[in-house]
Amino acid sequence: MDTTRPIDRRSLLRRGAALSAAVTLGPLHASADAAQSVAGKTKVGVIGCGSVSRPYLSHLARSPLVELVSVCDILPERARQAADRHRIPHHYPHVDQMLAGTPFDLFINLTDMQEHERLNEQALEAGRHVWSEKPIANSLAGGQRLLELARKQRVRLWGAPTVVQSPQFAFMAKMLGEGKLGRMAAAHASYGHLGPNWAAFFYTEGGGSLPDLGVYNLTTLTGLLGPAQSVVAMTSVVTPTRQITARGEVIVTAEDNAMILMDHGNGVLSHVQSGFNYFTPHEHSSTQQDHHTITLIGTAGSMSLVGYDWAPHAVDLATHEQNRFQRHADARSDYVWENGASLVAECLATGREPLFTPEHALHVVEIMTAANESHKTGRRIPIRSTFKWPFV
Ligand SMILES: NC(=O)c1ccc[n+]([C@@H]2O[C@H](COP(=O)([O-])OP(=O)(O)OC[C@H]3O[C@@H](n4cnc5c(N)ncnc54)[C@H](O)[C@@H]3O)[C@@H](O)[C@H]2O)c1
Repeated sequence: MDTTRPIDRRSLLRRGAALSAAVTLGPLHASADAAQSVAGKTKVGVIGCGSVSRPYLSHLARSPLVELVSVCDILPERARQAADRHRIPHHYPHVDQMLAGTPFDLFINLTDMQEHERLNEQALEAGRHVWSEKPIANSLAGGQRLLELARKQRVRLWGAPTVVQSPQFAFMAKMLGEGKLGRMAAAHASYGHLGPNWAAFFYTEGGGSLPDLGVYNLTTLTGLLGPAQSVVAMTSVVTPTRQITARGEVIVTAEDNAMILMDHGNGVLSHVQSGFNYFTPHEHSSTQQDHHTITLIGTAGSMSLVGYDWAPHAVDLATHEQNRFQRHADARSDYVWENGASLVAECLATGREPLFTPEHALHVVEIMTAANESHKTGRRIPIRSTFKWPFV
């Protein structure tokens, strides 16, 4: 791989790159009178037929509890091609036509980040359950409004990423729960690459490395260490213009380089960094890497995640009793980052709840907006939201 260039869509996908999380809304039976499928399958409509739709549609097509009903894209050729590829009976060029067209239960939003909140709201208004790629909303207030609307409509709302579903997350949460690391002190997480080159939205207002990349590490660290109570951050733009395929030069107005410090309470501090200017000596691969992306340290132990949190493959752990690092949670599993829409479709069909919650996704949205505010004002920003924690 030419690591001096931004990451192109094909290589990112070929290597299984990318990510997902979700936002739930209380017990499934709360939505019993939503527009649900019978016969054990959830009828699904997918909006946004770009890069991430490929792994999503393949995963959904393999789920026995999913019926793919329609696809939609404002670039109609993309919707037609996605429909052809997966034998999906209906395709639409506009959300209004999709929502007024063949009925379905679950709206899967894979559009530009800046479009999520508006389209999620429209789908909830139309009585559909929603799974949204990240971010689920552009602000805490916007997300809370969506949750309230979902409750009112008696439907569910979820959002990417799904990192808390991995067996490696479960192992780390268990170690912390058992006190294996002693009194917790610190954690560090890092995720970056050279940036996508297929869409401008990553680099404009409402985009940035935090909602595209940092969101995974923020979800993992708050999931392991508990909700953040306050945040301090600095961000910057390292590359002021980008060449975007089929678009040309774009001026970068969202951060492409971010560092966040979180205070989790009880003295526990953590740090997340993300960026679109990160050289890596390895490919952006989900399975081949052995490098640590997240490290947690306490008075009696230290553990590090092997691989990205959206594609983890082991945890290295050393403790006071076992003071050489040993590898754990390295068995093959069926966890993949693009599983979120399939998991919630299965939840709607069976009542089996995923581990991710809307409150957690919204907490991470608040951290990301607080990070931008902290950078602008130079202040430490208190965080108001919280979520159900711990996971085990
Ligand atoms: N590409 C990845 O590997 C990847 C991985 C994980 C998550 N994501 C997330 O998925 C989302 C989409 O990213 P992408 O890389 O697929 O972008 P993309 O540009 O490849 O695809 C987005 C698609 O949405 C369509 N679209 C935009 N606004 C629309 C509207 N109002 N109605 C209908 N269609 C609309 C665009 O025409 C485009 O085809 C982003 O939130 C991104 O952060 C992407």
